Amino acid sequence: MLVSIGLGTIVVTTAVLTTPLASQSPVKQHTRYEKFIPRSGARPEGPARPFGVRAGAPEAKTGFDNLTNGYFPQGPPFDSLNKDNVVPLRSFNDGRFVFEEVETVAEGLGPTYNAQSCRECHQNIVTGGASQIAEHRTGHTVNGIFYESLGGSLIQSRATYPDIVEHVVDTDETRSFRMSTNTLGNGYVECVSDSTLLAIRDAQPDDMRGSAPEVPVLEGDGSAGVGRFGWKCQHRSLISFASDAYLNEVGITSPLFPDENTSSGVFVGFGSGYDPLADPEDDGTDVQAFANFIRSTKAPPRGPSTPDVFYGARHFTEVGCAICHVSAIVTAPADTVINGGAFIVPRALANKTIHPYSDFLLHDIGSGDGIPILPLPQWQYTAPMIRTAPLWGLRTRNRLMHDGLSFTFDDAIQRHAGQAANVTATFNALGDTEKAQIMAFLDSL
Ligand code: HEC
Ligand code: HEC
Repeated sequence: MLVSIGLGTIVVTTAVLTTPLASQSPVKQHTRYEKFIPRSGARPEGPARPFGVRAGAPEAKTGFDNLTNGYFPQGPPFDSLNKDNVVPLRSFNDGRFVFEEVETVAEGLGPTYNAQSCRECHQNIVTGGASQIAEHRTGHTVNGIFYESLGGSLIQSRATYPDIVEHVVDTDETRSFRMSTNTLGNGYVECVSDSTLLAIRDAQPDDMRGSAPEVPVLEGDGSAGVGRFGWKCQHRSLISFASDAYLNEVGITSPLFPDENTSSGVFVGFGSGYDPLADPEDDGTDVQAFANFIRSTKAPPRGPSTPDVFYGARHFTEVGCAICHVSAIVTAPADTVINGGAFIVPRALANKTIHPYSDFLLHDIGSGDGIPILPLPQWQYTAPMIRTAPLWGLRTRNRLMHDGLSFTFDDAIQRHAGQAANVTATFNALGDTEKAQIMAFLDSL
């Protein structure tokens, strides 16, 4: 997913870059990257809204219940929907059906892909959640500069023909897994104005201050937005991310991502004999349905509260975890224009307090994968950085950190060095009771 814009997923970029011409000509490659370079900076999107413990606005809806948060209507009973009667843009249930739909070659799947449906990687406890599925990304690093693998840093793990499955070359020694992230409640996250994220950043101490990459909004007017989705904050909008994902995860092109991915730099799109469908394979309807669905999902709900959870939350803040894992953020007021003019904050998502336990900013805590948003000089600084993992829904995950290689909360905490080193040291100096209370708190998220 990604990078399309630069952001998200590097993949996108990759995708973009991978046509045969692109892989042969630096000039052409540069032109292709330009699509992901915003024409102007981010707009404030209104004044910053409150954040931190005393956020104040009404609570956003939460629940693992397959019910709409009110943005789109619930629609006909989910079990009554099928491929013939689904109306993609009608309702939450229709959008969920499209998000769960298993794609076939005749519908555009591949030629290279990672899975047949969005749900394959985003389901737990309900459709839209995070999962244990990891993607892999590779490239190589020379004198501190990252170069992506041929065909892009995202290595698709499946293909529609055995001879075009991508393989990592020995010399691409910068290698990482990236876990599938949660999408539930991300409509609220999208409606946090850029100015609020910048205010969170500016309130952080110098040695812990996050970075807010300004990424293109592909469906917008050309201005940038503050990236917040994906492990690298590579996208600002859900339409951009969903388009990126449709191409890079499922192999389906759409208006914002009209070029098929290559197989390690070799053209396998329409006309190559590997791909029966001309592009774009989706006219934008499915992408809009994915965004409508995600925008209508409720945020992950909390588990039961106990005295230990209560005291654990207090220690979590006192120790400094909440400087990055921000406990509460208020979304923009209704009618605020966001996403470079492409989206207007709807009433159902407006002026709501969310508890994501993230600042949606990039930090260097020493755990980074060495892969920038895009392999361009202006993004090189993001190579060692990772977005503060939103901790909502944490009790539903058992493979932690971007690579899924931490098995316990304590493992994950001990990997916090760099900008989090002082906080980790403070945590480690706590007594056993306080540490156990923080663990109880984490297990309530
Ligand atoms: C093969 C697994 C896989 C499939 C299939 C998949 N995703 Fe993802 N998704 C991921 C991973 C991995 C990430 C994190 C990627 C990154 O940051 O590089 C992610 C992140 C996201 C995010 C950003 C959430 C956040 O805030 O971090 C959105 C939105 C999303 N996916 C939507 C979709 C949609 C829509 C589809 C279907 C078109 C889809 N995904 C299909 C694995 C998958
Ligand atoms: C300087 C910012 C910062 C501070 C301070 C910080 N974190 Fe994190 N946290 C991060 C980042 C960035 C990640 C993602 C790192 C990665 O995936 O490589 C993360 C990831 C995590 C994860 C893994 C979540 C998941 O879904 O995989 C847990 C658990 C966590 N932090 C708990 C804590 C606790 C507890 C504290 C306080 C003791 C803390 N963090 C302090 C930035 C921070």
